[in-house]
Amino acid sequence: MSDIQYLPGKEPHPCEHRMIFKNIDRAGWDPTIDCYLNDGGYDQLQKALTMEPQAITNEVKASGLRGRGGAGFPTGVKWGFIPPHNTKPVYLICNCDESEPGTFKDRYIVHQDPHQLIEGMIISCFAVGAHTAYIYMREEFPEAAIIMEKAIEEARAKNFLGKDVLGSGFDVEIYVHRGAGAYICGEETGLIESLEGKRPYPRIKPPYFPAALGLYMAPTIVNNVESLCHVKHIIEMGSEAYAQLGVARNTGTRILCVSGDVKNPGYYEVEVGKITMGELLNDVCGGPKEGRTFKACIPGGSSAKILRCDESYTIAQGDSEQTLTFFDIPMDFDTIAACGSMAGSGGVIVMDDSRKISWVLNNLNSFYAHESCGQCTPCREGSMWMKKISDRIVDGHATPDDIQTLEDVAYQIDGRTVCAFGEASSWPVEAIISKFRDELTAETSEDNDDLSEEAKQQLQFISE
Ligand SMILES: Cc1cc2nc3c(=O)[nH]c(=O)nc-3n(C[C@H](O)[C@H](O)[C@H](O)COP(=O)(O)O)c2cc1C
Ligand code: SF4
Repeated sequence: MSDIQYLPGKEPHPCEHRMIFKNIDRAGWDPTIDCYLNDGGYDQLQKALTMEPQAITNEVKASGLRGRGGAGFPTGVKWGFIPPHNTKPVYLICNCDESEPGTFKDRYIVHQDPHQLIEGMIISCFAVGAHTAYIYMREEFPEAAIIMEKAIEEARAKNFLGKDVLGSGFDVEIYVHRGAGAYICGEETGLIESLEGKRPYPRIKPPYFPAALGLYMAPTIVNNVESLCHVKHIIEMGSEAYAQLGVARNTGTRILCVSGDVKNPGYYEVEVGKITMGELLNDVCGGPKEGRTFKACIPGGSSAKILRCDESYTIAQGDSEQTLTFFDIPMDFDTIAACGSMAGSGGVIVMDDSRKISWVLNNLNSFYAHESCGQCTPCREGSMWMKKISDRIVDGHATPDDIQTLEDVAYQIDGRTVCAFGEASSWPVEAIISKFRDELTAETSEDNDDLSEEAKQQLQFISE
């Protein structure tokens, strides 16, 4: 990889370990199949087709790969949930909705290296026994859909797709399906409903775990773009070498998308857990803007709980305990979870001391109120009320009681909804209130009392 040249100004930071993003911003690189083949493209597909499908699943399990779409669930374990005596078709869906605010990685793979994704998908289809795969493409990515369709045609022309792939006897097709533009279409069961041509109301789990009851009620594996790309590299390196990257239980590399108040926002592919929050924000991203200090950070997309940059955490480490400051947190799934947040989709959103936390809160609440699919009452009503209350805070009309009401509404949503959107919308509120209560309360006044009696009754009702 050392002889790879990148476009001027786009060179990876020395702390990066480029694997999935090896070809992103690479000088002389283009998304055609010829360019990909010249770089050894589709060699791993040829190798995989000589393996037993179960052996590929075993490799993915042994690699420790965890999904990069949000939940960090082990990919090989998910593949193993397909019922053993299944007689229905198996489907693979690539989740290219990339709708989590703060996340901007999958789009680069599709735009600049579509064949890496196609190769990862064909290998994954072969492993799980799927002959039909879909790329669920976010509506707002029209150009990506065109690039992907062209790449699929190129792959089909070379018999990497279609009947009897490379003479192996394995048939597979990949189709691009464009979404209609809703955050909830990124949630895997909402996505499946949408793919079936319906309104994307998420399904209840259990029983509708996609690996058992997914698309058309058949076993369906849903994986994120980045996760599926990793499969190709696991075949190339072998699971043992792959698992050497990163740290225990948090293996491989991942792409961190850093946005907000840092000198150098952008995408950075690093070994999981090998870099701390401080190294990421201060060294890789150049630190805070001139004259500013870091205030808070959402480490894994907007649904993750906010962390204060001046706090510390005492977490279990084996039989003992360890105290970490915010800047000491290694960027891995388990430590970020132990510190009370989540690594999620890798979208690191940074706020400096110029940001009013009430504005941040209102910005998040506005997004979730707009995106709730409306299927279940706590989320539909609660997200709207959380926005209304935070509107009042930023408008300078809130009373101190409003903060408590807002917190109560959030806790009434949390754990009471069909899908994880409920937590996605309530966790940020719970965390912001618990960590910035004083700052929020300072923006309220006992003298503010302009709520109508009807609104007061409704608020009382939903917070009980
Ligand atoms: C509200 C919501 C939105 C989501 N949006 C996305 C998304 O845009 N892309 C994605 O890959 N996963 C998203 N997810 C996670 C998916 O439901 C699913 O867990 C993921 O696609 C599985 O892939 P992985 O195991 O490779 O991470 C979302 C989940 C929720 C609850
Ligand atoms: S939690 Fe929200 S987004 Fe999820 S099903 Fe219920 S209303 Fe829809």
